[in-house]
Amino acid sequence: MGDLFKKIIKKILSLGGYEIKPKAKKPPSPIHLWDNDRDFNIIYDNISKFTIASKQRCYVIYQFLKQCSSVSGEIAEIGVFKGGTAYLINKVLIDTNKTIYLFDTFSGSPKADHEKDPFYYENEGMFSDTSLDSINKMFSNQKNVIITQGEFPKTSNIIQEKYFSFVHIDVDIYKSIMECCLFFYNRMNVGGILLFDDYGDLSCPGAKEAVDEFFSDKLENPIYLPTGQSFIIKVNKK
Ligand SMILES: C[S@@+](CC[C@H](N)C(=O)[O-])C[C@H]1O[C@@H](n2cnc3c(N)ncnc32)[C@H](O)[C@@H]1O
Repeated sequence: MGDLFKKIIKKILSLGGYEIKPKAKKPPSPIHLWDNDRDFNIIYDNISKFTIASKQRCYVIYQFLKQCSSVSGEIAEIGVFKGGTAYLINKVLIDTNKTIYLFDTFSGSPKADHEKDPFYYENEGMFSDTSLDSINKMFSNQKNVIITQGEFPKTSNIIQEKYFSFVHIDVDIYKSIMECCLFFYNRMNVGGILLFDDYGDLSCPGAKEAVDEFFSDKLENPIYLPTGQSFIIKVNKK
């Protein structure tokens, strides 16, 4: 129906005292829980300026954190940048006794391999527009949050003896992701989750390569999510 015709019909009906009501918008199916979950949205409104992770990805992290609060072990995030997902982690776990360890160079991505990570090789030093200072301020009153600057795993001394229930690995490039797998795999408690942010990201082919290579001889099989993330649940201690 043309617009002019619609307008004429509307006018005629209105003269007769009738009104055409606009069709009610159908809610999306399957439901968008990330839009409906009130507690999540309160947190998300505070972090959207400080994260490059999409709302759906943040909602995945949020749900894993709720699950992990009943698994023993600490929490780590490698790849903090401006602190958005780290803030989410702290908010959800604030009433638990877990320590949250945050690692980043806070001066941009380390050197990438030109074949495995061509985008990062071309764009060396991405994510340098942040600082340790700004992250220290963000968590200034949080005794349970420990922030370490530098290239992981060179900075891993403080967690050598720790075990984990949830680790968010958001470091984009092959070498960083492989180093995280090598460090954390044997330090995950049973039921603990390793979540890889960049697995399906076309600009990070090295992420998928590292995860697939590392888990090719392990019991755990990386599970791919429509958000582009993937995760494993640790099935036994070693
Ligand atoms: C995509 S950003 C993280 C995004 C962040 N989670 C958010 O909420 O927006 C990736 C970060 O990983 C960091 N990174 C990459 N490899 C690293 C490594 N080996 N050690 C420490 N930081 C690393 C970079 O400095 C960068 O800040």
